[in-house]
Amino acid sequence: MTINRRTLLARTAMLAGALALTKQNAIAKALNDTGLKDLYKDDFYIGTAIGNARLNSPPAGFNALVAREFNALTMENDMKWERIHPTPDQWAWERADKFMALGEQQQMFMVGHVLVWHSQTPDWVFNDDHGQPLPRKALLARMKTHIDTLAGRYRGRIHAWDVVNEAVDEDKGWRKSPWFNQIGPDFVEHAFRYARAAAPEAQLLYNDYNMHNPGKRQFVVDMIKRFKEAGVPIDGVGMQGHVGLAYPDIAEFEKSIKAFAATGVAVHITELDVDTLPVAWEHIGAEISSNFDYADELNPYPNGLPAEVEAQLAERYAEWFALFLKHRESIARVTLWGTGDSESWKNNFPVRGRTNYPLLFDRDYQRNAAYHAVAALKK
Ligand code: XIL
Repeated sequence: MTINRRTLLARTAMLAGALALTKQNAIAKALNDTGLKDLYKDDFYIGTAIGNARLNSPPAGFNALVAREFNALTMENDMKWERIHPTPDQWAWERADKFMALGEQQQMFMVGHVLVWHSQTPDWVFNDDHGQPLPRKALLARMKTHIDTLAGRYRGRIHAWDVVNEAVDEDKGWRKSPWFNQIGPDFVEHAFRYARAAAPEAQLLYNDYNMHNPGKRQFVVDMIKRFKEAGVPIDGVGMQGHVGLAYPDIAEFEKSIKAFAATGVAVHITELDVDTLPVAWEHIGAEISSNFDYADELNPYPNGLPAEVEAQLAERYAEWFALFLKHRESIARVTLWGTGDSESWKNNFPVRGRTNYPLLFDRDYQRNAAYHAVAALKK
């Protein structure tokens, strides 16, 4: 069969085109398969927190994006006492089991959040059948059963547990929570011992916000030292990292990383997000019961983040990640508190109904300028 020259040329061009396309696709695919977790693979895990809505009905492409970008996973709410153990005899495992399946499919570093906390814990936990505060012994027993059941169920599968969350009240020492009031300060030690027994393979963390605060830093350092001397099993500190464009002072945060690391425990950045909105009445912190009335001046960007603020956010994120890289020897993990901006609790905290831009993906799950700034540190 003879092929005329024109057909031949056309075929060659088609073939070359197809080859170029394959090559282009390969490059696009490589880029698509590579995320922050790959860029930071020699430094620390890069994690995200997943809420129940995303777990149950993920938007198109969401699970693939999470698998591409992250290699650590925390459940935002559904392992908290009120969700997983809402009444004394009821355990709601479905969502947590689903979370485990999702992370295990991708062989992610799985984080359990959280065993003992004063928030999102039902009142019945602290009271007897007559509504009277449980005495120390009975409350300890209740705590132990909770930890045994929850940490025990996922034994060997959860790699790190936030054992106790937010037990320290800024520079005032122990928070006067029902745990503290009814058991005493050693409730924390007991929680760690119970957790070690129930999940011997898991790293056990103490987790808190505003960890840059010098008073809190010192209190936590002293606590870890005492624990180590007494043989209380603590492996790490979780610095939540709910920060803003202008707070806290990074130098103070760095002092805390160094101080915690110097005690010999691992540092985990557990809940990073960068609030881009005006600070409401000097509110800095993450005590979730705080809230302030909505006002338009506190919600200046309902229709999109202005370019100059986006640039500021990118610069700020780069500063944080540069700090984490500087201390990569001490830092085991950096987890973002959510994936896309629309999911973030910061749209409703500490003021409800605002439009915030605290994460690395926008409302359409596109990488934002801050993402590229964080990625660029590794390129
Ligand atoms: C937040 C969740 O993101 C919200 O959805 C929920 O309404 C309140 O709790 N510190 C913690 C997290 O340890 O569990 C909190 O998560 C944020 C502050």
